[in-house]
Amino acid sequence: MSVGVPAVSPAMLASDVQTLLRVEDLSIRVGPPGRRVQLVLGVDFSMVRGERVALVGESGSGKSVTARALLRLDARPAIEGRVLLQGRDLLALNEREMAGVRGAGIGMAFQDAMTALDPIMPIGKQVMEPLVLRGVPAAQARQRAIEVLTELGVAHAQERLGAYVHEFSGGMRQRVVLAMALIAQPQLLIADEPTTALDVRIQQQVLNLLDEIAERRKLSVLLITHDMGVVASFAERVLVMYSGRLVEDAAVDALFAQPFHPYTQGLLQAIPRVDRNLDQLVAVPGLPVPPSARPSGCAFHPRCPLATAQCASEVPAMRSFGMRRVACHRAEELGAGHAV
Ligand SMILES: Nc1ncnc2c1ncn2[C@@H]1O[C@H](COP(=O)(O)OP(=O)(O)OP(=O)(O)O)[C@@H](O)[C@H]1O
Ligand SMILES: [Mg+2]
Repeated sequence: MSVGVPAVSPAMLASDVQTLLRVEDLSIRVGPPGRRVQLVLGVDFSMVRGERVALVGESGSGKSVTARALLRLDARPAIEGRVLLQGRDLLALNEREMAGVRGAGIGMAFQDAMTALDPIMPIGKQVMEPLVLRGVPAAQARQRAIEVLTELGVAHAQERLGAYVHEFSGGMRQRVVLAMALIAQPQLLIADEPTTALDVRIQQQVLNLLDEIAERRKLSVLLITHDMGVVASFAERVLVMYSGRLVEDAAVDALFAQPFHPYTQGLLQAIPRVDRNLDQLVAVPGLPVPPSARPSGCAFHPRCPLATAQCASEVPAMRSFGMRRVACHRAEELGAGHAV
């Protein structure tokens, strides 16, 4: 285990040719001067081509805000840092250039299919839209919509193009949202909680489909979820977020074998297991903090069973432990003797 070397993830070690996305020191804030609230602070991570990364953390930790900032979807929050897609800084592009990246460079499947879809526009039109906006003739866009819906397991896609969202089940709606994100053939798919609202069987079907599509298209996927079961079955690497910061970045196997951050440990203990009774299920004790009332030092310290005085006063820097990165003053002790 090496401590004190600059924070590098496995993705950062790969050559630039392999790196698809590099997010550097991303900070996001809202509100007028004097009443500013930092939603996200100094987030750094990379993804290589074809990699599947899960972004996890409890509600309000900043997962969706981070994802939306990569595509500059909201005008209001001020975004700082760099978002390099194949070396090109998306935060420095003009609006026209940015419109070219949305859908084709990065496709985003939004959280909550019901609000992401327009109730009064036929499904087909919505799926075609990203292509039509790029000037693809309607007949061609329609054909592509049929293909991508079929790829996502929507039977009789041609006949269903004229249907409306209320005529679709939850699982089907989610497939439509994914079709819109995939139709312009992005290199990176960001899927924000694609399975959260679905029952377990449909959840697994959607994950299997995503798995097949990612494999076939050599697609990179950033999957946002708070479900560690979904993480285990889909991702290769995990980014753990707490109160607007990344706190751990590790390969899935290593993270499940031994989480180094106490918050990650809490998340893993909260997973129901068939070999334990439900009453042994422990959620991370305490409540998540809103960004406007973030505690000093390590934001997790009031809920952390291992917190010391240092944790209350000093924000822990992200440090590397082999291929893993952790932002915790006590990471050495937690990770002692474990594979990184
Ligand atoms: N435009 C905004 N103005 C002010 N606060 C915002 C804005 N957008 C998000 N927030 C706040 O930022 C924090 C992070 O929100 P975000 O939606 O990213 O959480 P999340 O991790 O995606 O949670 P969930 O799992 O519930 O989807 C929340 O406290 C939210 O209330
Ligand atoms: Mg969210």
